[in-house]
Amino acid sequence: MAYNLKGRNFLTLKDFTKEEINFLLKLSLKLKEDKYAGIRSKNLEGKNIALIFEKPSTRTRAAFVVASVEEGAHPEYLGKNDIQLGKKETVKDTARVLGRMFDGIEFRGFKHETVEILGEYAGVPVWNGLTDKYHPTQVLADFLTVLEERGYLEGIKFAYVGDGRNNMANSLMIGAAKLGMDFRIVSPKELFPEDKLIKESLEYAKDSGGKITITADIDEGVKGADVIYTDVWASMGEEDKIPERIKLLKPYQITTTMLDKTGNGKVIFLHCLPSFHNHETEVAKKYPDICEVEEAVFEGKHSRVFDEAENRVHTIKAVMVATLGK
Ligand code: CP
Ligand code: NVA
Repeated sequence: MAYNLKGRNFLTLKDFTKEEINFLLKLSLKLKEDKYAGIRSKNLEGKNIALIFEKPSTRTRAAFVVASVEEGAHPEYLGKNDIQLGKKETVKDTARVLGRMFDGIEFRGFKHETVEILGEYAGVPVWNGLTDKYHPTQVLADFLTVLEERGYLEGIKFAYVGDGRNNMANSLMIGAAKLGMDFRIVSPKELFPEDKLIKESLEYAKDSGGKITITADIDEGVKGADVIYTDVWASMGEEDKIPERIKLLKPYQITTTMLDKTGNGKVIFLHCLPSFHNHETEVAKKYPDICEVEEAVFEGKHSRVFDEAENRVHTIKAVMVATLGK
């Protein structure tokens, strides 16, 4: 069944029902198949898309640009040093100006409140490309990858291991709860999600038949898992916390031993990326112990991280087409 999401913002999965999220995943799959078949529907022909980025990005920026162009739209990158937003102009004013010129606006940045103000005042669909609190387009790509792998999502045992209170943990918990998964956050107590969000997710899980577990116990958390997911130990904007996070999260590093502990030979490993899995990057050279996943897992047979990265394009395209397309 098709759902009418025209004109809607996409700020957090809290605002979407189970059926609407499943519809976006189905549409992603259809658009992916069409792309592979060489079919271009140009659902966004003539549209102008603003891409506001306060923080750096590889995947999200690239996915929005490619998805826009493939659907016939014009994307315009507006980096934080290129525009007045928040410096000489309020977010509310920028929202009203960009809304008069563009047909849709993506925002990546720090405060979630900024994307909410854009969403309230722009008058055109606003899409969250990551804030300190949520990263909902990433969750669609993650779930699409699981769906392609397993053929279903309900009841999937999904263990998120690492910083249990960052934007990925928050968004995955909401999405998994809405879709009826058996979702676990496995992290040290210091990094458990906010109580309020746990309560909300438990409510969603009650409706969907899902399950939410928050635990510091690795054995309990990964038992039987179909998916082991992790993210960086310190998110963008938290660079000063790297030394303390290394201490807290080293025991939660994703290793081949941890994958064995799931007892599931078909477990898949996912990571939103970028990832520290070796010592080749500038940051990893500075902090040799920063490594949320062993190289053997990242490059190993259970890893689906590059399928997941590709799925950013198809899912972001689905969000834009559903909310703005013909
Ligand atoms: N996963 C993700 O959002 O990557 P970027 O920061 O490169 O956009
Ligand atoms: N939690 C990470 C996600 C990056 C895609 C961050 O916010 O930096």
